[in-house]
Amino acid sequence: MSWKQTPKVELHLHLEGAAPPSFIRGLASEKGMDLSAIFKEDGGYAYRDFDHFLSVYEAACSVLTGPEEFQRLTQAVLEELADHGVVYAETFVSPDFCGGGDLEAWKDYLAAMQEAHVDGITLKGVITCIRHFGPEKAKAAAVCAAETYGDFVRGFGIAGAELMGKPSDFMWSFDCAREAGLHLTAHAGEWGDAASVRDCWETLGIERIGHGVRAAEDPKLVEDLAEAGVTLECCPGSNVFLGVYPTLSKHPIQKLREAGVMVTVSTDDPPFFDTTMTKEYEDLERTFGWGEEDFAEINATALSAAFCDDETRAEVAKRLEKK
Ligand code: HPA
Ligand code: ZN
Repeated sequence: MSWKQTPKVELHLHLEGAAPPSFIRGLASEKGMDLSAIFKEDGGYAYRDFDHFLSVYEAACSVLTGPEEFQRLTQAVLEELADHGVVYAETFVSPDFCGGGDLEAWKDYLAAMQEAHVDGITLKGVITCIRHFGPEKAKAAAVCAAETYGDFVRGFGIAGAELMGKPSDFMWSFDCAREAGLHLTAHAGEWGDAASVRDCWETLGIERIGHGVRAAEDPKLVEDLAEAGVTLECCPGSNVFLGVYPTLSKHPIQKLREAGVMVTVSTDDPPFFDTTMTKEYEDLERTFGWGEEDFAEINATALSAAFCDDETRAEVAKRLEKK
């Protein structure tokens, strides 16, 4: 069956990483910038591996020069999500790409993003620091998040090159965000092993883990995550595309779910990884035999782990009931 119309919740989506390549190419040509090096002949993004992906990502971000570009980006992303049945999404946004960590500039970017609107879908923001930009920049990002916590800004997290630095380097930022009332998540266990997932979880006191799938390599950690009810923001297509697992059948999402871990499904950076939420569902159906009840459970898990307030949660729950 086609899963396109099925209502979905997506928790792990990088806003700039969701930019359709045609949108970035269009902006580059409006601004007279030459970004041909980051595109393939078929129009998609061109990169060799994860590190190169991060630099192509930053090059694509270079056309997003002001709040207006972010408003247009958010609008384009919302339209794409709605086209795939997404009724609630959380998106990672970095103050580093929105005014370089300056609080006043950040507020203008945020206001612009919130101008974007598509009926039937709610978008919330999880503010991320970028691990390879280092702890000092992360502090500025945390202050931006803490000062703008509210209806849209719900969480704080960390993205970027997972193997650089240690979780403890970012403790100040996570403490700052937690004290302001923000929910917490962090990328871990995509490139790092199970021990690094535990380190990140215990050091930063996060409620959800971005990816987290390498936890599957340590049965005790799997048990502890299940018992603590920690939600994993799994992005199976992203993991297979980047070679974390050779095929979806080798991806541990099913095994983790069977072990009682809260797993959810997201796309990460959909055009970069040649995916959409519809494609994720199709692939999971084909590989693991997941059907309507499985996806309903995955969406219920995602909604209960969402960083929104309970009024929004109740509203989204109603959208999930509609087929
Ligand atoms: N992983 C880590 N950092 C990122 C990603 C990602 O997929 N996208 C943008 N920043
Ligand atoms: Zn990610």
